Amino acid sequence: MGDRVQDEPDSDRRRFLWITGVASLSAAGAGGAAVLADFVHPKVLFEPPTAFRIGRPEDFPVNSVSADYDRKVYIVRTEVGFFALSAVCTHLGCITRWLEDEQTIACPCHGSKFGRDGSLALGPAPRPLRRIAIRLEEGELIVDTTVEVQADTVLRV
Ligand code: FES
Repeated sequence: MGDRVQDEPDSDRRRFLWITGVASLSAAGAGGAAVLADFVHPKVLFEPPTAFRIGRPEDFPVNSVSADYDRKVYIVRTEVGFFALSAVCTHLGCITRWLEDEQTIACPCHGSKFGRDGSLALGPAPRPLRRIAIRLEEGELIVDTTVEVQADTVLRV
């Protein structure tokens, strides 16, 4: 009888140690699995494409500036033709805004202003907006933001 009384605390202790051990191993296993999954799973940033269709020439009125803020470009149509400007400010990279009333492209961050041709009108931006490649392909205008072109380049359509 005396032995049974002493066995019960040992049994509780064993059960406690067994549960604690299983819980610790489970936590370690879950942590290891998370590290393995992180190692195996590629860390890829999905960026939007840099070359894309922007529309048909007839979608853009003559003497207009059309902003596509998602793609960070302006499509400018003059009487001569088309050109595309990057909407990214050349100061610190904020996205500029076309102000129709002022016929100006303005940066909301530090106040730089650009003409509708991308020329620098007011700093602190150090350079004009980048003029980027635009071409006509199968009746649609294609912009490629990775290709910078001369400031006087115009696509005649
Ligand atoms: S980021 Fe445009 S003026 Fe500073």
